Amino acid sequence: MRVLHVAAEVYPHVKTGGLADVVGALPVAQAHLGIDARLLLPGMPALRAALEAPRIVADVGPAFGAARVRLLQGRLARLDLPVWLIDAPLLYDRGGNPYHHADGSEWPDNLQRYGLLGWVATQLASGALDPDWAPDVVHAHDWHAGIACAYLSAHAATARSVFTVHNLAYQGLFPHQDAALLGLSSRFMSSAGLEFHGQLSFMKAGLKFADHITTVSPRYAKEMATPEFGHGLDGVVRARAGAVSGILNGIDTTVWNPAADPLLACRYDADSLEGKAQCKSALQAEAGLEPLQDAPLLLALSRLTHQKGLDLLLQALPGWLALGGQLVVQGSGDAALEQAFRDAAQAHPGQVAAFIGYDEQRAHRLVAGADLIAVPSRFEPCGLTQLYGLRYGTLPVVRHVGGLADTVQEASVERLDALEGNGFVFDQDDPGALLQALDRAARAWRNQDRRSTLQRVGMRQDHSWAAPARAFASLYGSLLQALPGIGSFRAAPPGGYRGG
Ligand code: ADP
Ligand code: GLC
Repeated sequence: MRVLHVAAEVYPHVKTGGLADVVGALPVAQAHLGIDARLLLPGMPALRAALEAPRIVADVGPAFGAARVRLLQGRLARLDLPVWLIDAPLLYDRGGNPYHHADGSEWPDNLQRYGLLGWVATQLASGALDPDWAPDVVHAHDWHAGIACAYLSAHAATARSVFTVHNLAYQGLFPHQDAALLGLSSRFMSSAGLEFHGQLSFMKAGLKFADHITTVSPRYAKEMATPEFGHGLDGVVRARAGAVSGILNGIDTTVWNPAADPLLACRYDADSLEGKAQCKSALQAEAGLEPLQDAPLLLALSRLTHQKGLDLLLQALPGWLALGGQLVVQGSGDAALEQAFRDAAQAHPGQVAAFIGYDEQRAHRLVAGADLIAVPSRFEPCGLTQLYGLRYGTLPVVRHVGGLADTVQEASVERLDALEGNGFVFDQDDPGALLQALDRAARAWRNQDRRSTLQRVGMRQDHSWAAPARAFASLYGSLLQALPGIGSFRAAPPGGYRGG
């Protein structure tokens, strides 16, 4: 089975969040199952620089306003599978992140940048760009690749499409007057297609035109269909009810493994947890926190956005410090939240530390050195940091939403006897509820027996990609059986002409 993953990010080269972690690990797990999984990515500078043994596969010519578009193929370190990059310097060769300028403003030509990504995916699927390989399944991730599903539908492609929603809050919205740039017929631009409240939505393109929609946890699959979590697209999701499923994300257990993690002060595993105390001391020293082994050290490692609910943590902070706790935060995003955490660190030296910014290596030292990790999200399609916490014996304290609810169960004393429950869970979007959960967590953590039992329960759970990769394989299999193909096609790119 041949599967083409289409995405905007891949760990470790281009990453703004968990999407990159997924795209860097799921295809590899699929390859281990014998699936011929490959990647198509926009040629961002970091990827261009990292592509090993690149060769030009096709000269696409001008497309989407770019004078020169070429398709490259090569390999990326850590990913033992072929990768295609779209080389379109005018569209992709710039700083900032894949979606924004460094000042936070969205790239004004994102429609063209991600329109091209979806269009090239479709052309690869048709066999028009690489005569050696065409996918049976195009697996598009988030709005960035959603338009691929519309192009595949428009061209009655043989390949089946799977669209994975990683976060319904980011929808890829563009002015309706730019519709012509996409080269799709007007029926795709109506409310039965991409039109969404007078704009165009690439997220909606994926939701409307994919053969199947998945999201990253079973609970979020249900939540997406409700007004509370649907970000206005819940009706569209409900209309596809029979074609939506939730497959829980895994984590890359080679990147996140406390027994072999080269970034830690000391390695440890579920059978010998002593090294974790050394990691804590090293972290307290690095963060300028008092060297107290008996103070529960709480971590928040996150984008600082409304989604993540870290304003609740700020409000619960006085209570947490009164319980004798310490806090270390690493994150970036909302300027007011960044400043609030800086201020908290200044107001409570030795008890609170704030690393404002993004640091992948320190993230490992934080997860290993902390005792508890807070994920108080307002919504959370899956969430990966609670899984990293579980794997590192760092007890998660989470809100009962989305993938957090699917992966963390309250560890009441009774459940612990049955070795059930792996963390602490609260329901309400409320700092008091968070503080109560933190209090339960701190009391459990202070009891040495409960602490180590809980740590071991979490560390021994299997959150690898093995099971999700099998679930995707069976989904692809059922799609390929159910829907016979219609034939291949060739098409000229919008905003250019086929070279020749
Ligand atoms: P989301 O994708 O919504 O941001 P996830 O929990 O799925 O949330 O994934 C977040 C990923 O980004 C994790 O790999 C986490 O470790 C990482 N991360 C978030 N903020 C930072 C940061 N400031 N420094 C390093 N890694 C971070
Ligand atoms: C999104 C979600 C997050 C999920 C990640 C990877 O960024 O916000 O919950 O874990 O994608 O699927």
